Amino acid sequence: MIELEGLTKRYGKTVAVQDLTFTVRPGIVTGFLGPNGAGKSTTMRMILGLDKPTAGTALVQGKPYHELDHPLRTVGALLDAKWVHPNRSARAHLAWMAASNDIPKSRVAEVLRLVGLSEVAGKPAGGFSLGMSQRLGLAGALLGDPPVLLFDEPVNGLDPEGILWIRRFLQRLAAEGRTVLVSSHLLAEMAQTAEHLVVIGRGKLISDSTTQDFVERASEQSVRVRSPQLAHMRSLLIANGFAVREDGVDPENPALVVAGASSDAVGKLAGANAITLFELAPQLASLEEAFMRMTGDAVQYHGEGVDQVMGGAL
Ligand SMILES: Nc1ncnc2c1ncn2[C@@H]1O[C@H](COP(=O)(O)OP(=O)(O)O)[C@@H](O)[C@H]1O
Ligand SMILES: [Mg+2]
Repeated sequence: MIELEGLTKRYGKTVAVQDLTFTVRPGIVTGFLGPNGAGKSTTMRMILGLDKPTAGTALVQGKPYHELDHPLRTVGALLDAKWVHPNRSARAHLAWMAASNDIPKSRVAEVLRLVGLSEVAGKPAGGFSLGMSQRLGLAGALLGDPPVLLFDEPVNGLDPEGILWIRRFLQRLAAEGRTVLVSSHLLAEMAQTAEHLVVIGRGKLISDSTTQDFVERASEQSVRVRSPQLAHMRSLLIANGFAVREDGVDPENPALVVAGASSDAVGKLAGANAITLFELAPQLASLEEAFMRMTGDAVQYHGEGVDQVMGGAL
């Protein structure tokens, strides 16, 4: 379990993380989602005791990181996969980590097998592909067999096969009962990996819910309507409280877009008023588009914007 309470980090005038309060539970993958610069890495560094909070607390298994008796056996992390000594083999790198953390040497071969690096364990890590480096990073995080795991953008730059592998791997770690927090700036990727999503923008919490709930809220539905009685339809929609705008795609073929409405509701209204419809088409906003709108505005317009975005889109 990871518990954040009012966690805040300022760098001079920059507020990187602002009053974050949320809990990461064991047994599921929790996605930590936000655009670049949102404060994900800073939050993770504070959880790992690498950065001191300006205010608030971050607890891992009930304690601040620096009070943990066996940090590597409590929390494993992959923050930056490229820090390995280039001439050192994967095996030597892990053996050195194990030795300096009082972890039995036998664990090295185990984690190499877990991440599928046994066959290249003796080769210099400097020659590893990005995918292999990421696996070595995962092996390092797992060395102490910790119940809590943090991964900062682990799929960045990986090919689809590597992404799929990491996704399954994280899900397996969570299924073993571990607490797994994984950050990303890509909603589509997180939606497929995480069961729960904590979303931040400009250092502030935007949403903390199941992935399904967030996706449903983000992908607000609208309906496209064409009719030979479009003006009449439009005034009826407005009179009934629907939000209507011109579709504007094809001037020869005027259409209306009714936001936040189902095709059932619009169809019923048309039927009750004997209006002929040529088209009644539900449109799903692209998920990534909705996410950009929600967190992108949060980036642009300070705190107020976040609230507006929340009020508008959520
Ligand atoms: N060491 C630092 N010194 C000054 N500003 C920083 C430092 N680390 C991060 N920041 C700033 O804090 C904000 C959040 O950054 P970061 O946590 O890296 O976001 P993310 O990981 O979500 O992309 C950014 O505005 C970034 O420029
Ligand atoms: Mg980051």
